[in-house]
Amino acid sequence: MPKKKLVKESEVIMTEMVLPNDTNTLNNLMGGKLMHWMDVVSAISAQRHCNRIVVTASADNISFQHPIALGNVVTLKAHVTRAFNSSMEVFIEVWAEDIPANKKIKTHRAFFTFVAVDQNGKPIEIPEVEPQTPEEIELYEGALRRRQLRLVLAKRMDPKDAVELKSIFGFEEEKNNK
Ligand SMILES: CC(C)(COP(=O)(O)OP(=O)(O)OC[C@H]1O[C@@H](n2cnc3c(N)ncnc32)[C@H](O)[C@@H]1OP(=O)(O)O)[C@@H](O)C(=O)NCCC(=O)NCCS
Repeated sequence: MPKKKLVKESEVIMTEMVLPNDTNTLNNLMGGKLMHWMDVVSAISAQRHCNRIVVTASADNISFQHPIALGNVVTLKAHVTRAFNSSMEVFIEVWAEDIPANKKIKTHRAFFTFVAVDQNGKPIEIPEVEPQTPEEIELYEGALRRRQLRLVLAKRMDPKDAVELKSIFGFEEEKNNK
C-alpha cells in the first residue's frame, strides 16, 4: 500500500433526486435522508483513500439553513482532507439544483471522520494525505484542530493536550505557565 495518497484519489461525486419518499410534510428533503447520503458519499471517499473497510466514527455539527425542495437534484462531493493513524477526516459539500429554474446553490458542508478497520473491526494504519492545492493545504492544516476539538468533545482527549486548539484561542502553553 502507498505511504501517501493525493486528495484527488479520494474524490467522490454523488447525484441524487429528491423524491416524495425523501420529504417531510412541507415537501422538503428530510434532514436524516441528507445525512444518510452524506454518510454514503464520505464512506466511499474514505474507502478510496485507504482501500479498506471503514466505519463512521463521528459527524461534526451539520446545520440546516437551506431547505431542499422536492424534485431538486442534490450533488454531494467528498474527499479526504487528512489521515492520522487509522482515522481520516472527509470534507463533504452539498449543492441543490432546480434544473427547470436553472438555479444551483450550495446548501451544506460538513466533516465526517472514518476509521479503517480489519475483518475483526480493529483499527489499522492507513496512508497519509499529500495536499497539493492551496485549498487542500488549508483543509489539511485545519484538520488537526478539528480532530482535537472532536476528540475533546468525545472525552477521548484531555483538553490540556489539545495544543493546536488552544493556540487558536490564544492559550499557548507559555501563557498558562506564567
Ligand atoms: C470507531 C472505532 C473503530 C474506534 O475504535 P477504538 O477501539 O475506540 O479505537 P481507538 O481508540 O484506537 O481509536 C481509533 C481511531 O478512532 C478515532 N476515534 C475514535 N472515536 C472518535 C470520535 N468520536 N471522533 C473522531 N475520531 C474518533 C481515534 O482518534 C483513533 O484515530 P487514530 O488511529 O487516527 O489516532 C469504534 O469505536 C467503533 O467501531 N465504533 C462503531 C463504528 C460504527 O459502527 N459506525 C457506524 C455508525 S453508528
